[in-house]
Amino acid sequence: MSRAIPAHARTTGSHSAVTTAEPSSPTTATNSTSDDDDAIVARAIDLTKTYGNAEAAVTALDHVSVDFARGQLTAIMGPSGSGKSTLMHCMAGLDRPSSGTVLVEGLEVSSMSQRQLTRLRRQRIGFIFQSFNLVPTLTAKENILLPLQIARRPIDMEWFTHVVDVVGLADRLDHRPSQLSGGQQQRVACARALMSRPAVIFADEPTGNLDSRSSREVLEFLRDSVRQYGQSIVMVTHDPRAASYADRVVVLADGRIIQDMDDPGYDQILEVFASDDTDSPTVADSPTVADSPTGTDSPADAVSHAPTDGDRS
Ligand SMILES: Nc1ncnc2c1ncn2[C@@H]1O[C@H](COP(=O)(O)OP(=O)(O)OP(=O)(O)O)[C@@H](O)[C@H]1O
Ligand SMILES: [Mg+2]
Repeated sequence: MSRAIPAHARTTGSHSAVTTAEPSSPTTATNSTSDDDDAIVARAIDLTKTYGNAEAAVTALDHVSVDFARGQLTAIMGPSGSGKSTLMHCMAGLDRPSSGTVLVEGLEVSSMSQRQLTRLRRQRIGFIFQSFNLVPTLTAKENILLPLQIARRPIDMEWFTHVVDVVGLADRLDHRPSQLSGGQQQRVACARALMSRPAVIFADEPTGNLDSRSSREVLEFLRDSVRQYGQSIVMVTHDPRAASYADRVVVLADGRIIQDMDDPGYDQILEVFASDDTDSPTVADSPTVADSPTGTDSPADAVSHAPTDGDRS
């Protein structure tokens, strides 16, 4: 957990970091090349998301600026309703911010058309949902390969074999989701996200539906994929134990970042939630993705991993 990350890559709302970003248009954007942008895989700049209007308006994100370092596992914590899912959905292009900018690898996600978003999600972004979102009629292997097949991208079978081996699914490849345990299903979803080698994986409570053993399996896999392959992962969790796997823990409350901890231990994470006015988040608070109020952008529809997405572009 002691990966050295340049200090600038960890700065929350740092103007020096923010102003070096080139918020380029989706049609002209290219990968950034400065040292700063190489170290940062995704970035939110002054992000605001408001639902509803007038008196009924809810500010889910309130001027959030945050950089996510490449090759790092970042955990996002905070009480229910603090804006965690909204942040993940805006970062992954599954939902549009009301104002502000989202950049993934220097590409301005927040102003992309649906078609551009679909392409971006297929090529650069992985998403892992609390509810797995596997296709029930397909085998584990078919589920893992589906996004690449939809995108008509070549399949690197060597990488597939490796990923399957790492997630421990080699003897379960012909099983359908209903024949797999929750932990195994989530590992299929993890393998699916990793298969396309996305620049960044966003995971919304990936262990929220799992028992402690399965949670551990999934968390160890996520952490190993960061350590071994330099995968960048941003993971929402209510569970301090899960967050302690992360290199960094960012805490949201009322749509704002209130804490940003570097490589904290379990006790340090617990202290944050015991000490101040944030509700103590527990696994028991954790809602299912189906409960998520961001239902207008259904994950199954929005994520490029779903077959319904096949005719999108
Ligand atoms: N589609 C929507 N319409 C109206 N309000 C919404 C919508 N989506 C989210 N909200 C509101 O925005 C706020 C943030 O919601 P969000 O789902 O991001 O919270 P969260 O931190 O993920 O919570 P949880 O831990 O319960 O999943 C909440 O007050 C929520 O009620
Ligand atoms: Mg949520």
